[in-house]
Amino acid sequence: MTIKALVFDAYGTLYDVQSVAAITEDAFPGYGDIITQIWRIKQLEYSWLRSLMRRYEDFSVITKESLVYTLRGLGLAYNATAFERIMDKYLHLDLYPDAKPTLAALKGRKLAILSNGSSDMLNALVRNSGLDGALDATISIDSQRIFKPAPDAYSLIEARLGVRPNEVLFVSSNPWDACGAKAFGLNVAWIERVTPEAMALACVKSDVVSPLTMFKALRTQMDELGIKPDHRIYALSELPDLVALA
Ligand code: LAC
Repeated sequence: MTIKALVFDAYGTLYDVQSVAAITEDAFPGYGDIITQIWRIKQLEYSWLRSLMRRYEDFSVITKESLVYTLRGLGLAYNATAFERIMDKYLHLDLYPDAKPTLAALKGRKLAILSNGSSDMLNALVRNSGLDGALDATISIDSQRIFKPAPDAYSLIEARLGVRPNEVLFVSSNPWDACGAKAFGLNVAWIERVTPEAMALACVKSDVVSPLTMFKALRTQMDELGIKPDHRIYALSELPDLVALA
């Protein structure tokens, strides 16, 4: 396996979507955690439902619609200013601490993002986080008008980078995305940030399961979809050694 390119999922892999909690808690004290978790779950759900219905809208619309669902569903009144302030955080998500040093250590191979994010969202996020100099391409699925894990989304990698699927290592912490990339024919490294052992401990420790624990149980464990990633790692920082052996 000669890896010529590493392609990264954005939200949840290079960027910590949980970092919106600072803003949601400030806007709605006491509701920050539950807003953050329902919002992300509905955002993904809407990307899959709109893909299946062939009713595509870009990820900025889906992110807005899932936030409306979340605030309305929790009975929270909001004004446009509060809403826009929360939405703006999606353009300023925190990078995982090992993202920049890992990309620097991988210099020499083609490095790119492939994300459900719209081009505008991703370009702003990459610029705001200072990654623009570290990436050869930021690829939005928007031109395909269908979201990952649809094969058409992953086909953009060869179209934009000129590398064959078997020359690519796709990296994602989202199990459904790792399975989709593997089903398409890419080499895949899945970042398992929450282990089943940690989940078991979190559930036993208290009789109340927090929204974050429920989210981790729903969205961070490897899905049972009949397909497995090639590599299971625990952090981005493991990638340079992994590809050095490839
Ligand atoms: C991404 C999120 C949806 O595509 O995982 O970046």
